[in-house]
Amino acid sequence: MIYLDNAATSWPKAPGVAEAITRFLTDVGANPGRSGHRLSIEAARMVSTVRELTAGLFGAPDPLRVVFTLNVTHAINVALHGLLRPGDHVVTSSVEHNSMIRPLNTLGQAGISFTAVPCASDGSLDPADIEAAITPATVMIALTHASNVLGTLLPSADIGAIARKRGLLFLLDAASTAGCVPIDMPADKIDLLAFTGHKALLGPTGTGGLVIGERVDPARIMPVFQGGTGSRSATETQPPFLPDLLECGTLNTTGLAGLGAALAWITAAGINRIQTTCRAHTRLLLERLHAVPGVGVYGPRNPRLQTATVSFNIKGMSPSQAGQLLDERFGILCRVGLHCAPRAHVTAGSFPQGTIRFSPGIFTTHDDITTAVDAVACLSREACCE
Ligand code: ALA
Repeated sequence: MIYLDNAATSWPKAPGVAEAITRFLTDVGANPGRSGHRLSIEAARMVSTVRELTAGLFGAPDPLRVVFTLNVTHAINVALHGLLRPGDHVVTSSVEHNSMIRPLNTLGQAGISFTAVPCASDGSLDPADIEAAITPATVMIALTHASNVLGTLLPSADIGAIARKRGLLFLLDAASTAGCVPIDMPADKIDLLAFTGHKALLGPTGTGGLVIGERVDPARIMPVFQGGTGSRSATETQPPFLPDLLECGTLNTTGLAGLGAALAWITAAGINRIQTTCRAHTRLLLERLHAVPGVGVYGPRNPRLQTATVSFNIKGMSPSQAGQLLDERFGILCRVGLHCAPRAHVTAGSFPQGTIRFSPGIFTTHDDITTAVDAVACLSREACCE
């Protein structure tokens, strides 16, 4: 079996993740920040360490501004619903995932509008087009760091500079990049960074967060959820400080124990080395796919301009049929179809059928990639002769 679906969720996870989860469940298990006993204190220490590791990875100066959520979708919702008000306008891109577009559409019912700036068919985006879409009502630029369909990296540092110059908030969806592309919130002028723990961060599902930059005043944020925090319990309103303002109810401590191990592994391995390995996978995958007759590849087709996510199609075969045959006959696991990002497929010209998406991860081998492309070549030969 060859797993090429790391853009959906990474697998295997980082060494030590499963052990950390087992250790937490076996030896600690308690609720952090609630009770004063030793196990509760130990759980709180663990959560605090994971906050510090997260802040460290993204260059965020204050770990208390790391708010844990269940995933990136949850984090984006907390940011958009929490900060936008009737009459506000948001600038986004045409390669966004539904995790951005659906909440923005819902907010449309509350009088909040958005402009999705068209990307080129390879997913690339000209920062000047973002600037041109800003209106007097614009309060935020909110976009993905990389397309989950095409892999294309958007020019986040240039767009962050535009947001800062124009006095706007900059929300970056790092679902596809956290853990495999260096991210420095102050340097890239990112005010809100939404991330998930289960993709390139190599942690368990059910983990993620929103890192809130120093320019965002917590008093401006309306919490989407309210409830118990273990702090200010005599008060019947939400505590005004971070992370408690946005983090109520019992945390996914089990998941966070695993995420902590993953972050420690990534920090020790080094993001730059991880990125180099992922680029080598992408280069090999692109070179091999390019040589297969009947295969059309989407996206930048350049490992320096994209993540290790490559979308393609086989002439004469639907993506869903290809995905099924790759799994059943060759043991190659990937994701096909629209990848919850219909606009990205409209942008690329692959709507409505979608694409076959191969997404190697840090633990993929070169043999995995060559074997998978040989299987694609076999399917393509069959499709053209039938
Ligand atoms: N958004 C995830 C993907 O791209 C699940 O597959």
